[in-house]
Parts: sequence; structure tokens; C-alpha cells
Amino acid sequence: MKKLNNKIAIITGGAKGIGLEVSRLFVQNGALVIYTDKNKKNGEKSLKEINKYGNAIFFQMDVSKELDWKSFLKFLKVQKFNKINILVNNAGIYLGKDILKVTSKDFTELISINLLGTFFGIKFITPHLKRAGEFSNSMSSIINLSSIAGLVGSRLDPLYSMSKGGITTFTKSMAIYYGNRKYPIRINQIHPGIIETDMGKQVEDSRIIQNPNMSKKQSYNEGIKQTPIGRLGSPNEIAQGILYLASNDSSFMTGSSLVVDGGLTAQ
Ligand SMILES: NC(=O)c1ccc[n+]([C@@H]2O[C@H](COP(=O)([O-])OP(=O)(O)OC[C@H]3O[C@@H](n4cnc5c(N)ncnc54)[C@H](O)[C@@H]3O)[C@@H](O)[C@H]2O)c1
Repeated sequence: MKKLNNKIAIITGGAKGIGLEVSRLFVQNGALVIYTDKNKKNGEKSLKEINKYGNAIFFQMDVSKELDWKSFLKFLKVQKFNKINILVNNAGIYLGKDILKVTSKDFTELISINLLGTFFGIKFITPHLKRAGEFSNSMSSIINLSSIAGLVGSRLDPLYSMSKGGITTFTKSMAIYYGNRKYPIRINQIHPGIIETDMGKQVEDSRIIQNPNMSKKQSYNEGIKQTPIGRLGSPNEIAQGILYLASNDSSFMTGSSLVVDGGLTAQ
């Protein structure tokens, strides 16, 4: 059974990795997906792939730029998308540098994408989610991409952990905000472990930068060694968790955290 029939979803950073897999799984489940990304080339390439399974639209924008959000809002208005049922704040970056080598420019970029971008998504799309919830018998749903680094300290990137820890408590606070105002919006988050995407490769590279005697293979194996289930995760395994949080299957969940990490934070 299709879990997202008649739903409209926005997914940020949907051109590759986890966001692309979420876009594909959502259209397969009957949603109309509007996915955004700052990378136009990847975004347009992915559109052909996603549209094999259903209906998707790509809009190029940078989540950290307020003017881009304003253009996106205009686009939604012109296209008559006044009601949005699901928002996935997925776009994010990882630094992976030794903290003593991080510049203020690196720091500002990280915070602008991971935190300001998530805040903008919520600020600008809340009215659309509220309208959709009011006109439907199910609540609208927001899913934020936190990380295991938003639950426990990161071995490799304390500032990434700072940004994802911010998302963790922001998500809980927003559940209270919507609840207090009786807005028909649920908001939850997912905490992926190490996932095989370009960002997953960046984690491997940063392990090598910080342990120069380590080979690529040793770095990959180290990620596996840290994961009790004995392998890294796939983008689809995260997308399935996000589908659960987006659909009515999770109708009594808000302010919650779904940890999908192969047991990494169980130790
Ligand atoms: N891969 C992992 O191991 C892992 C683990 C925990 C959490 N996460 C989180 O999951 C999310 C997706 O990660 P991924 O592994 O798919 O990453 P990825 O690097 O493979 O893909 C990220 C996508 O976001 C887009 N993006 C980056 N900055 C953007 C911006 N300013 N505006 C719009 N789009 C932008 C990129 O162009 C890219 O298409 C991120 O928030 C990440 O922090 C990933």
C-alpha cells in the first residue's frame, strides 16, 4: 500500500545521497515531491531517475540563503502549492577538519547550512504545513536530519557535532511550540550512523587526515569496527526511517528521535 498518496513533500538537498533516496521512496509511495538542491547539474540529472517512479519537481536553491527561500516561496505560490504535507530538512555538510585548523569562514558555512538552513525551512514552510494539516485528517510532518553526532560526541568533527546537537534540541523545542499553539504539525528527527554516501566517504577521508598512517581500506574498516551490526548503512535504510516519520504510521510521534545507526551509539 502506498503510504503517501495525495501528499506533497519538500525535500532539501535531494540531488544525491540520502535526499535522493528519500525523494525516490516518497514518489514510489504516491507523494508529489518537490526537491531542492544547490547543485543544479545533479538536481536535473536526478529528476530523470526519480520521475521513473512517480512525480517530482526540482528547484535549485541554497538553503542557507534567505533570498533563495523567498524565490522558492514565489515558485510555490505561482504553482499553487499552498498546502505542503511533509518537509524533510536534509541538506547538510560535514567539515572533517582538525578543529584547530578550522577557519571562521568554514565555521560560518557549516552553521549557515546545517542550522540556519534548517531554521529557514521551518520558518518559511510552517504556514504551508499548517494549512495542509487543517484541511486533512492527518497532521503534517517535518523530519530533520540530525546525526549520531547530535546525540554523542564526534571522534572526528566536534563542530559538525555542535551543529547536529543544535538540531536535536531544536526539533524537540519545535514539537512543544507546535503543540502549545495547536498547530496540526508533528516534527521528529532521524539520527543516521555512518552511511555510504559522499558524506560517508568524507568521514573516511577525515579519519585519514587525522591519522595520517591509516590507509583508505583501514579507515573504511574502522567505521565498520565501530558499528556493532558489522557494516555501514545504506541511504535506503535511512529513507525507510524517514518514510515512517512522514507517514501516518508514526501518528503519535512528535519531538522524537529515530536512531538508525547499526548500534553505533548503543556502546
Ligand atoms: N552520510 C552519513 O554518514 C550521514 C550521517 C549522519 C547524518 N547525515 C546527514 O544526512 C544529510 C544528508 O547527508 P548525505 O550523506 O546524503 O550527504 P551528501 O553530501 O551525499 O548529499 C548532500 C546533498 O545536500 C546538498 N547541499 C549541501 N549544501 C547545500 C545547501 N547549502 N543548499 C542546498 N543543498 C545543499 C548537496 O548538494 C547534496 O546534494 C545531511 O544533513 C547529513 O548531515 C549523514
